Amino acid sequence: MSYKYKGLIEEYKSYLPVSEKTPVVSLLEGKTPLIEAKNLASKIGLKNCKLYLKYDGLNPTGSFKDRGMTMAVSKAVEDGAKAIICASTGNTSASAAAYAAKSGLKCYVLIPDGYIAMGKLSQAMMYGACIIAIDGNFDEALEMVLDISKNYPIKLVNSLNPYRIEGQKTASFEIIEDLGDAPDYHFIPVGNAGNITAYFKGFSEWYELKKSTKIPKMMGYEALGAAAIVKGERILKPETIATAIRIGNPASWEKAENARDKSNGTIDCVTDDEIINAYKMIAQNEGIFCEPSSAASVAGLIKANNMGLVQENTIITCTLTGNGLKDPDNAIKYGVSQVHKTKCDINEIVKNMGI
Ligand code: F0G
Repeated sequence: MSYKYKGLIEEYKSYLPVSEKTPVVSLLEGKTPLIEAKNLASKIGLKNCKLYLKYDGLNPTGSFKDRGMTMAVSKAVEDGAKAIICASTGNTSASAAAYAAKSGLKCYVLIPDGYIAMGKLSQAMMYGACIIAIDGNFDEALEMVLDISKNYPIKLVNSLNPYRIEGQKTASFEIIEDLGDAPDYHFIPVGNAGNITAYFKGFSEWYELKKSTKIPKMMGYEALGAAAIVKGERILKPETIATAIRIGNPASWEKAENARDKSNGTIDCVTDDEIINAYKMIAQNEGIFCEPSSAASVAGLIKANNMGLVQENTIITCTLTGNGLKDPDNAIKYGVSQVHKTKCDINEIVKNMGI
């Protein structure tokens, strides 16, 4: 019998708050690959550990946000909404705009002017969202959209919308299905802290249902210049090269701490240099191109391993949250190799090939 994938709501509907009446809006998100990363594991110096990368940058709009957006937009349509709104560092806006286009909803996005990667902005423009770039940061944009969604008939689709978390938890289900059990550690970037909350929920629910034998230690990593949870205080002017996680007042702050504490995990931070180093290592050693913010998970693993926090003979997963094509500017700036410009002359070309 042939099996046709119909998107994550159809796949996991018995674990999601949907019914026969829910008009499913899907771009066939989910079912992203869990790729074993042996080269990276050996470069990092992991001792007898198996390392897997959950490449969620292969979702339809290039980030994990699609998992949450299929749920949030389907439920918005079910509730009779005509418009959605979000604040975003880029990926949420791209995803919201795409699912709005698919469902015929109007979409408004607020972004911090000048701080969103080019690929993400181009997506929101192509999908036809109303894009408002403010002279403030993500945290300020989120305050604005919360206010607007309270006072106008427009549904909020940031991760404060509980359906977003429900959709995103399915990444944990996929990991458990692929490995046959939950991993020992799960490393993940932390920005607004919705995704770590969602993964922990997914891992916990399937553990309760005995579909796994453990809950992984949740290992969340903020960027040093935006490390509100690590420092225990709101950062008024967050700064990092990883613009997707340039967030100083995470909306799911307490939920992320709960995930950390209940799983015996950690929330720590990594520097921009550590992020860029991991970004290059992943591409160079595994042939996987993620965006800088995504590399915070692997940068976190390197740091944790150096601190002796990673035990031998364990299974480790890291989420790569977004596709490297989102941010061509940083790829070109930090590229592992450079372009050799030469005349169209065979001798010149061969000389440049270094052979
Ligand atoms: N990685 C990427 C590529 C992201 O775009 C984000 C968040 C995160 C990690 C952090 O996830 O916020 O759930 O802790 N991006 C949001 C956005 C804020 O607007 O696209 P989180």
